[in-house]
Amino acid sequence: MFQRILLGAMLFFSFTTHAQQPDAKMNAFVTNLMSKMTVDEKIGQLNLVTPGGGIATGAVVSTDVESKIKKGNVGGLFGVIGVDKIRQAQELAVNGSRWKIPLLFGSDVIHGYKTIYPIPLGLSCSWDIPLIERSARMAATEATADGLCWAFSPMVDIARDPRWGRVSEGSGEDPFLGSKIAAAMVKGYQGTSLSADNTLMACVKHFALYGAAEGGRDYNTVDMSRLQMFEYYMPPYKAAVDAGSASIMTSFNEIDGIPATGNKWLLTDLLRKQWGFKGMVVTDYTSVNEMIDHGMGDLQTVSALALQAGVDMDMVGEGFLSTLNKSILGGKVTYKQIDDACRRVLEAKYKLGLFEDPYRYCNTSRAAKEVMSADKRQSVREFAVRSSVLLKNNNQALPLKRSGTIALIGPLANNKSNMLGTWAVSGDPQLSIPVLEGMKSVGGNGVTILYSKGANITDDTSLAKKANVFGERVDIGPGTPEQLLNEAIQTANRAEVIVAVVGEASEMSGEAASRADISLPESQQKLLEALAKTGKPLIVVMMSGRPLVLNKESEWASALLQVWFQGHEAGNSIADVLFGDYNPSGKLTMSFPRSVGQIPVYYNHKNTGRPQPDGPTQKFRSNYLDVGNDPLYSFGHGLSYTQFRYSDIQLSSNQMRPAEKITATVTITNTGNYNGEEVVQLYIRDPQASVAQPVKKLKSFQRISLMKGESKPVRFTISEEELKFFNSDLKWVAEPGDFKVQIGTSSREFKEASFRLVK
Ligand code: NOJ
Repeated sequence: MFQRILLGAMLFFSFTTHAQQPDAKMNAFVTNLMSKMTVDEKIGQLNLVTPGGGIATGAVVSTDVESKIKKGNVGGLFGVIGVDKIRQAQELAVNGSRWKIPLLFGSDVIHGYKTIYPIPLGLSCSWDIPLIERSARMAATEATADGLCWAFSPMVDIARDPRWGRVSEGSGEDPFLGSKIAAAMVKGYQGTSLSADNTLMACVKHFALYGAAEGGRDYNTVDMSRLQMFEYYMPPYKAAVDAGSASIMTSFNEIDGIPATGNKWLLTDLLRKQWGFKGMVVTDYTSVNEMIDHGMGDLQTVSALALQAGVDMDMVGEGFLSTLNKSILGGKVTYKQIDDACRRVLEAKYKLGLFEDPYRYCNTSRAAKEVMSADKRQSVREFAVRSSVLLKNNNQALPLKRSGTIALIGPLANNKSNMLGTWAVSGDPQLSIPVLEGMKSVGGNGVTILYSKGANITDDTSLAKKANVFGERVDIGPGTPEQLLNEAIQTANRAEVIVAVVGEASEMSGEAASRADISLPESQQKLLEALAKTGKPLIVVMMSGRPLVLNKESEWASALLQVWFQGHEAGNSIADVLFGDYNPSGKLTMSFPRSVGQIPVYYNHKNTGRPQPDGPTQKFRSNYLDVGNDPLYSFGHGLSYTQFRYSDIQLSSNQMRPAEKITATVTITNTGNYNGEEVVQLYIRDPQASVAQPVKKLKSFQRISLMKGESKPVRFTISEEELKFFNSDLKWVAEPGDFKVQIGTSSREFKEASFRLVK
């Protein structure tokens, strides 16, 4: 016994000393370095610049970057791509500045670095957490080989409004799934040690609530109750922090009337004190300066506000660089505040191993081996097939047969420039596989594929111009809309089945790409209507960066496959699913509205005091006169080429005490003709509580794979944790009473059972 205690104590001691040693070493190193630095040099570390010339991801770019680096006025750079350029810039800092402090090199590695995988919203539809972690790991391996050590990702903003263009960059509307994805991405980027040469620093963003902009208009105001905030919007940021994200980016919006970038409650009280965040806080692009327009004061005032709130690094605007010194002299900020921020920037550099070797990420032979390597493209194809969501499949219109003639039609059917989707800043669209090429190679020799463009993405020249900001994504012509349409109809008439590849141009979603009307552009609606009139089976392949309103399209289509933007292998991965080489298993992570007027429409809504029952609309109930309450396609929906039958739920007990757990089991049988994968979803409803609870909350899910004819029991464990919510005192509690557990194939189709929590 005594020996065991001794052994335990020795183990504990050795763990704690090992855990503390690196921190102590780092502290001593940073303290020593800072003791030699002037205030101006410390302020210089807080300055993050982008030199332009390559990739500009905002309206303003930094000037005089070279001389600022030499003067020690720069802490990090972003928008510089390529190991040679990064080495040159690092040499300026290391050889040219007084203390030889290396620079951080960041970039928007959002869904891949140069090898681009599906947009985050698409990838989230895989509900495959290990795969998502792997995708981030792959991006980190590639980006670090090319000089980078910092990714401005993951973007974990919960969003319920598809008008907001940036839903494409997130994981949809659910905090539970969003949290799992946030943590997986951080782990994927950062690996087990930040100082390894193939891991980079994650930067969870945009803290906080950026996805709740009023009216879905980018950069707009957010105003939200604390309950809403903690229950639905904060969990993914918290999950990323708990997973060890070494940096976090502030958002553009205000929270309780104070912009996030200057919000002390948010950045210090909540983030650092309550959540224990130890990393570095960086602003979003010029968001310090933007506080002037928010109405918070002049540049000196807002810069001081940001530093006092807890910001460490100022992105692009140089408010810190140009005013903090004055603010110290005037007593507006303290030396300690500058020291704290500088320490956190230096600590980030230390943890990345940059002091040990500033060129750790500048290894040309790694770059040659890792960047755009064949194995990465192969993985992209694997990630991409899992992000497709089969929304409709009447009369088993899909999969396609590998014989006969297929008419492949649509402005996105033979297109490279839109395959990557938004925020693929370092990806070359011309290296993408267009759908036509993928269909030919996957379909093989037995099938004839005829192609026509059929329509322009849009005929609206003003919209086209806006979608073409980063290069030509929408080409209008050659040929008039009528010519394009007629040619497509002739092509369709020569085939047995039509595959129409339609949707948005990639830059119709993303940053500053909100849309008030989220329907398919009219040119393409006309095309689909005309194709449907041919009477041939019409397979619609829908590319978009957001849920669109697709009522008519869904009626016209025999099958509707939502593919988002799949990245470099799009043509192959889409063809893999169309021909059935991969049986789709994706599930929506965001509801598809029937009308813009329903927005926000999301599955975890409240019941209200006057819920509309199933069936016809009733007067004096919460509903609309002109449209139902349900979305067209709900959260969690996604079909397979096979069918899954769910048994009733078996509960191990219908009573639970606080420390106990119960299990809920369903048996699922593959009753169709294909092997397949299913995402089995578990929702909990708390029908009576001190704070009104939503009609359901996702609390668990499992991905399973079933051969045709196979049955499998799927078991979930439910503990008190799954029953908790934030009460009026913002305490995370479970209250005794009845609960409903729902297990199903979507938030709308499920089996239900009840149990009681007894306290
Ligand atoms: C502004 C965007 O909001 C943010 O997500 C991005 O990381 C920065 N620009 C840098 O490009």
